[in-house]
Amino acid sequence: MADDVNESPADAEQLRAEILRLTAEYHRARSRPSRPFVPGTSRIPYAGRIFDERELQAAVGSSLDFWLTLGPEGHAFEKSFAEVVGARNALMVNSGSSANLLAVSALGSHLLDHPLEPGDEIITVAAGFPTTVAPIVQNGWVPVFVDVDAETANVDASLLEGALSDRTRAVMIAHTLGNPFDLGAVSAFCRDHDLTLIEDCCDALGSTYGGRPVGTFGDLATYSFYPAHHITTGEGGAVATSHPKLKRVVESLRDWGRDCWCPSGHDNTCAKRFEWDWPALAEKRACSGGNGTGAYGALPVGYDHKYVYSHLGYNLKPTDIQAAIGRVQLEKLPAFTEARRRNHAQLAAALEPVTDDWHIVTATPGSDPSWFALLMIQRTPDPERIARLGRALDAKGVGNRRLFGGNLLRQPAFHGVEHRVAGELPNTERIADGGLFLGVYPGLTEEMIAAQAQIFVEEWAAA
Ligand SMILES: Cc1ncc(COP(=O)(O)O)c(C=O)c1O
Repeated sequence: MADDVNESPADAEQLRAEILRLTAEYHRARSRPSRPFVPGTSRIPYAGRIFDERELQAAVGSSLDFWLTLGPEGHAFEKSFAEVVGARNALMVNSGSSANLLAVSALGSHLLDHPLEPGDEIITVAAGFPTTVAPIVQNGWVPVFVDVDAETANVDASLLEGALSDRTRAVMIAHTLGNPFDLGAVSAFCRDHDLTLIEDCCDALGSTYGGRPVGTFGDLATYSFYPAHHITTGEGGAVATSHPKLKRVVESLRDWGRDCWCPSGHDNTCAKRFEWDWPALAEKRACSGGNGTGAYGALPVGYDHKYVYSHLGYNLKPTDIQAAIGRVQLEKLPAFTEARRRNHAQLAAALEPVTDDWHIVTATPGSDPSWFALLMIQRTPDPERIARLGRALDAKGVGNRRLFGGNLLRQPAFHGVEHRVAGELPNTERIADGGLFLGVYPGLTEEMIAAQAQIFVEEWAAA
């Protein structure tokens, strides 16, 4: 069928309402009453999607609209998401990793007064997820690793000064499993040394520091909506920023590198799509000291703005269907956050019997985490015993995970990658050898959490 869809005839509206009603009915029919929970047999996943008929209806409704590419749902999601995270702008993308790639790559844009150059350095940590660090390397910049703090598993801010060099330009760090890093100290460090701060909030949507949402302290913040995360759109993520210029750069990089800012499905919002005098603009910008804009001068006068590319970009957009699901999920965020906090507190209390052997990572002072998971670190790391424990927990249905890459520098992908280590990384090593996390996601009931702790205590003794 071609694109000439009859706008909204009454019968189409009725059919749509009927399809959505049936979608809800289908969801109810499919959601059989759950089987009774049996500790030791039933699964206790560490994460999962939480949804009801409203997400299904959103997905089906958006499919019926058949806009497909990021469109009206996407723009509505971006607007609401920006409000929720306290930023002026949010741009939806197809994953948290894409969000990180865009946020980091933006620092090299010619639109900035002082873009990063090859060999410039970005301070980060090695205990965490690989795609927090990979974009630094992918852009030809050098990651500089500092150790994490043993209590919070977050960057040890007292080590930042020691990591500085005359090439340091930015800090890019994740809030470990929802626990905000010391945003007071890290923000002050960035301010004092004129560094850009990127907060990887992929595991921390809903967390606050000093009563403010994480992500509002840095210049750019990134989020993931992969199913294990605080809200889900399947694949998905976002970049938030309150800086108009950074917003423009991230949008351009996300959308093929285009110079034009028309939303998808719209043309000529600049009202002079075919009237731009590129050589004249280049001359003017070059005179006023504009960065790199002289390069527009090679384009013919009147060249269609829609096809002018000012960055070497990507296409990292999600679909409108994902955004439609995200809008419903976002409304549920406060309840999800409350459940994560409640579950974490219950699980931490129930794990008391193993705390001679395990340190349960604590909230950074001044913060209120929306925990992604409960991270524990063996006081005396014993990787083989952890492996035995992991296997036994799995066999009893208890989902458990390592802190992602552990120490990224020990991962094959990072072999031979140019980097610098400021000091040593003893706590990072402890996490790599002795760190393990358990689930606290909203799908867990009190009974499941109690069983999870009991199985952990028993299997730890036996491992
Ligand atoms: C801290 C952190 N950053 C980035 C990502 C990447 O997100 P995505 O899986 O959506 O690419 C993850 C994934 O779990 C993460 O934990």
